[in-house]
Amino acid sequence: MDQTIEGKIYLNGRFEEGCIGIKDGKITAIKKILKGDEHYSFSHQLILPAAIDLHVHFREPGFTYKEDFYTGSKAAAYGGISCFFDMPNTNPPTTHTNNVLEKIRYASKKSFVDYGIYAGIIDNNIDEAKKLSEYCNGFKIYLGDTTGSLQLDEQKLGDVLEEISSLNRPVLIHAESNKCLQQHRITEDNLQDHIRSRPAECEENAIRNILLSSKTTKKPLKIHICHLSSCEGFEILKKHPPNITIGVTPHHLLLNIEKISKRYQTHYKVNPPIRTNLDQETLWYGIQKGFIDILESDHAPHTLQDKEAEFMDAPAGVPGAETMLPLFLAEVKRNNLSLKKLVSMLCEKPADLTGVPKGRIEIGRDADLIIVDLKEEIKNIRAEHLHSKCGWTPFEGMKALFPKHLFVRGEIVIEDHALVGAPGHGKHIQPSQYIRM
Ligand code: DOR
Ligand code: ZN
Repeated sequence: MDQTIEGKIYLNGRFEEGCIGIKDGKITAIKKILKGDEHYSFSHQLILPAAIDLHVHFREPGFTYKEDFYTGSKAAAYGGISCFFDMPNTNPPTTHTNNVLEKIRYASKKSFVDYGIYAGIIDNNIDEAKKLSEYCNGFKIYLGDTTGSLQLDEQKLGDVLEEISSLNRPVLIHAESNKCLQQHRITEDNLQDHIRSRPAECEENAIRNILLSSKTTKKPLKIHICHLSSCEGFEILKKHPPNITIGVTPHHLLLNIEKISKRYQTHYKVNPPIRTNLDQETLWYGIQKGFIDILESDHAPHTLQDKEAEFMDAPAGVPGAETMLPLFLAEVKRNNLSLKKLVSMLCEKPADLTGVPKGRIEIGRDADLIIVDLKEEIKNIRAEHLHSKCGWTPFEGMKALFPKHLFVRGEIVIEDHALVGAPGHGKHIQPSQYIRM
């Protein structure tokens, strides 16, 4: 065995003291005692599956002054993420096969952790979907206009879902109806205006469209509704078919409009908007009751300079990959969330949705692990300690517990809270390596 890692291992919702044996990056044994060429002993500390971030915007190519695969994946690694999935609203957008391949090439030189790439489906590239599916790890559909303007005509959703249902890739959907957004467009001066111009009704309409359009596909298609943000959206999703999963972000769960200072209005401009205290509480309720499946960062970095524009001109989006797991580990430590729920939302369900052989400590899966010491002190998040190129965080001062070590396919990438991995260690997860579900 190449490596063995000893500690309290998270197995099927419980902890067992023992060792994980690793060969060629895969978990090959889980036993009481094992000794490999390299042995790590983390006696009283917890060994958990590393997190998977289903939703990031690492901005390469086109906007590398905001982020790139080097800085984005470094930030992810510090936050305990061993695999991320990158969104298509780059420049050029990831809407043709050559753009997917180009992106894989960039990431393969720079990334510290593994990755998948989504292809965007827009009005004029559905003919290319089959070819795209040979390389992309899923499709992204925007039903409403947001950063990058990649939206699909919402009336075509049913036909498009039918078309891609045979391609065995998940589809992730930004659920804000463009028609509704246009009807509510106003000149915006602050976050209240932003909510008025992107009301919950637009999320609700888009979700209705998704529920209706996905009913008729001949083959079942895995559909993920990204970043749910409102009570209204939640109400109609409470009963949803099993092929649909629902995502939520740290900013919609941990922030609300009443908490945000007047000084930083543009910083917190994001689509869909951060809404009221009631919306926030509803999302937590959805998690506790098991209606919401996945935690995704929607890491959308913009520089401070970009954000410090007039409200109307400021770009929407907040960074969050590095802080996602640490913020929620702090919630676990404070008994606001169970560890089981967190592992389900950040590891197991994202792996099930995307099909990657990660997300669980199981023989045959990648040895992507984090070591967490719950006895470590909870820290206050400070932007100057984070690693995204954008240089700020919407969670400044909030409590977080960072993982101590990260292994990606058996190789240590973060050791004692410091980066020891190499850029280029991260690999593209070929769709052919997927676990059949
Ligand atoms: O606020 C957002 N920012 N929402 C999106 O859908 C895109 C993202 C970005 O890429 O900046
Ligand atoms: Zn996004």
